[in-house]
Amino acid sequence: MLLPRPTRSTPVAGHFTVDATTGVHAPESVADLLRELIGPATGLPLPPAGPSDDSVISLRLTDDPTLGAEGYQLRIDPSGVRARAGTEAGLRWAVQTLRQLLPDQVYAAEPARGVSWRLPAVEIVDVPTYAWRGSLLDVARWCHPLPFLYRYVDLLALHKLNTLHLHLTDDQGWRFEVRRFPRLTEVGGFRAESPAGHARDGRGGGMPHGGWYQQSELRDLVAYAARRGVRIMPEIDLPGHAQAAIAAYPEFGNDPGRRLAVGTTWGISTHVLNLEPATLTAVCDILDEVVDVFPFEYVHVGGDEVPTAEWAASPAATARAAELGLGRVADLQGWWTGRLAAHLAGHGRRIAVWDELLDRGAPAGATVFAWRGTDRIDAARAAGLPAVAAPFSHTYFDWAESDDPAEPLAIAGVLPLDTVYGFQPGDVLGVQGQLWSEYLPTEPRVWWRAFPRLAALAEVGWSGPVRVDADGALPPPTRAEFRGRLAGHLRRLDRLGVGYRPLD
Ligand code: ACM
Repeated sequence: MLLPRPTRSTPVAGHFTVDATTGVHAPESVADLLRELIGPATGLPLPPAGPSDDSVISLRLTDDPTLGAEGYQLRIDPSGVRARAGTEAGLRWAVQTLRQLLPDQVYAAEPARGVSWRLPAVEIVDVPTYAWRGSLLDVARWCHPLPFLYRYVDLLALHKLNTLHLHLTDDQGWRFEVRRFPRLTEVGGFRAESPAGHARDGRGGGMPHGGWYQQSELRDLVAYAARRGVRIMPEIDLPGHAQAAIAAYPEFGNDPGRRLAVGTTWGISTHVLNLEPATLTAVCDILDEVVDVFPFEYVHVGGDEVPTAEWAASPAATARAAELGLGRVADLQGWWTGRLAAHLAGHGRRIAVWDELLDRGAPAGATVFAWRGTDRIDAARAAGLPAVAAPFSHTYFDWAESDDPAEPLAIAGVLPLDTVYGFQPGDVLGVQGQLWSEYLPTEPRVWWRAFPRLAALAEVGWSGPVRVDADGALPPPTRAEFRGRLAGHLRRLDRLGVGYRPLD
């Protein structure tokens, strides 16, 4: 009942039981992960294996190139457990597979008594289809507490999702501590209220909200995620969705005399950063602190939904566009983002951007997050840029799962589970599910919207798309196979206390 489905899995006769005599042969960080994930529920010590031990779990590095950066081979038979991978990343996924093969009580936080920790004998070869298997969590709209972020990372790793995209800043809140610009969090981290009900109804709830993460807290989260094979990509959304930053530092905006509040309603603020050299320098200083905390190769610099009216009304911005020979003020965004890309390249980093940049001069080397439709994936390819498939039509899990009026309030749209599972991403770097949090203020609400759809997308990313009918529908046997396996997987989430939306 593995989820995601392995590339190849062949049953072998018998089983192997992990017990108090079982030792572990593995690179230290992998052995530690095995103990961390399996130790609490089993109560087993899993010590380093001695040369004469009979009962051994062996997780070793090999130089088999067919396993790639994350693949692994696993053989369980009555004589023991042997996993091989070319990288520690691959061995970490083998650990997650072993955990899924154990009885579901393994997900308990306390020792589960009277369980025989029996593994079915099996031979598995497992290599992911896509290198990027991501999940965006928006902590800007609601500052989700750190313990929740740790749990979130655990859940990604369980599904062999390798990237947490943390959306750290937006009009309604700035969550990343910047030492050089402390008002970003002191002022930008707090708002007076949030919408009550849907934002289109225009009612405020009257309750202040705020919070932010210290750099040291985020470093610890990054290290915890890395031990599980999860990279964290920070997003600082620029130069739009930046009203919280302008509220903190009015000189970053287009009218330094104007005092803005941190956003209190959802939507797209018309207030964006100015394009002056001093602001660009400040943004680069901010990004210096970002790369210092997040070692991942990619930094997402946003770029979605940037209204240009303020630039069009700004003599400085229009003069700059003319000086640069740009036909449109909007193209200033591509030029400006290129400056960020060059600055980050100096740190050995690459930029990720939302697909709007394709219309405004995306910098060479940018990785495009195609969200406005599957056609944006093709547009990125036409521009010669790598794409991560994140279209709202298949990956926006802040949409409701059905049109039942009993569904919790959602921003818009309906995205059923089968649509996610039938997604055909095409030739892309990978896939990513989005959990924008306007209407996901609490941990239970996030889980409800995340699962089971994120599990379905994890399988698309790891195991590749399933075949669909000409009209895009799942063939009934495919649907039944997935639903059956998913039902077993949801029992794992039950054990973990994750309140997913039940299957229809
Ligand atoms: C987006 O949904 N604005 C990327």
